[in-house]
Amino acid sequence: MKIVVFFSGSGTNLKSIIDGQTKYDYEVIAAFTNNPQAGGIEFCYQHKIKLKIINHKNYQDREIFDQKIHAFLEEMSPDFIILAGFMRILGDSIISNWEGQIINIHPSLLPKYPGLNTHKRALDSADKVHGTTIHYVTSELDCGPIIRQEQINIEPNDDENTLMERIKKIENLIYPEEISKLKI
Ligand code: GRF
Repeated sequence: MKIVVFFSGSGTNLKSIIDGQTKYDYEVIAAFTNNPQAGGIEFCYQHKIKLKIINHKNYQDREIFDQKIHAFLEEMSPDFIILAGFMRILGDSIISNWEGQIINIHPSLLPKYPGLNTHKRALDSADKVHGTTIHYVTSELDCGPIIRQEQINIEPNDDENTLMERIKKIENLIYPEEISKLKI
């Protein structure tokens, strides 16, 4: 199974997915980022992963940015597109073209807290539990069918950072495993 991984930030999930190739039966054929400063870029170079960088800030017109992504995906022709901390919303045309083949990981127990700042929102609501969700991507943000969720307890002295770190550790374990179970 051939996958491409989209990322924008520190790239811990990207790294765990790339490392997961030694354990699981999938191949990272390329990675994509919209952020030329993304932490995961160096890791792609070290592991000789083909990398496409398209800075969205260079494209005032969203459609042109989406067309560039579309061309990249057509060229790579992956079985699945794995969003791993990708902080841009994909256009409807991309989502409909690749329906059922785009997967995301979101740091909350969806349907709770779609969108940004999930750790802060869980703390502000005095939630007792928090977690992460792997799901299919549909045109409605963070609302697609759920593949897997994992839950943690929120401890009294947790803050946004401790929650983020604990959740990422779980994500780094479960994302490669769930990717390996996807059926083409
Ligand atoms: C993860 O917590 C993921 O759930 C969210 O963005 C974060 C990305 O972290 N979508 P990283 O860049 O993989 O370290």
